[in-house]
Amino acid sequence: MKPIKYILVVASSATLFAVSCKDTVEPATTAVTYESEVGKLMTNYCISCHSGDKPADGVDLTTYENVKKQAEKGELTEKMNDENDPMPPSGMLTASKRKIIDDWISNGMPEK
Ligand code: HEC
Repeated sequence: MKPIKYILVVASSATLFAVSCKDTVEPATTAVTYESEVGKLMTNYCISCHSGDKPADGVDLTTYENVKKQAEKGELTEKMNDENDPMPPSGMLTASKRKIIDDWISNGMPEK
């Protein structure tokens, strides 16, 4: 009995190990990060107004720290999802672009 039990333990912990490796590696390669996507969205749609000496509303969105700060206050996406007064003011971004930001926030706002 004993050797069989031992083999079972080894086999099941090897499986667990393989599963946990897969779990930790996959999201890291596919997760939205500031560097992969969020920063680019800010550059393309936001920083024309939210940068420089006098950024719109005092909100500078040119750095990771600043964008994260807005997101933590809950103000980054509030305006992006406000149909009546959206950011950017020219019109809401597509749902898929807004989802990128939402996913980033729910994923803990990783930089890279
Ligand atoms: C054409 C200029 C312009 C662009 C582009 C722009 N904004 Fe703004 N933003 C403003 C102005 C002006 C205000 C202040 C008036 C207002 O709130 O509508 C503002 C205010 C804000 C605020 C503060 C709102 C609050 O509740 O205090 C946030 C956050 C914000 N913008 C985020 C963004 C984001 C994110 C983008 C890109 C998706 C963006 N803005 C694009 C002009 C712009």
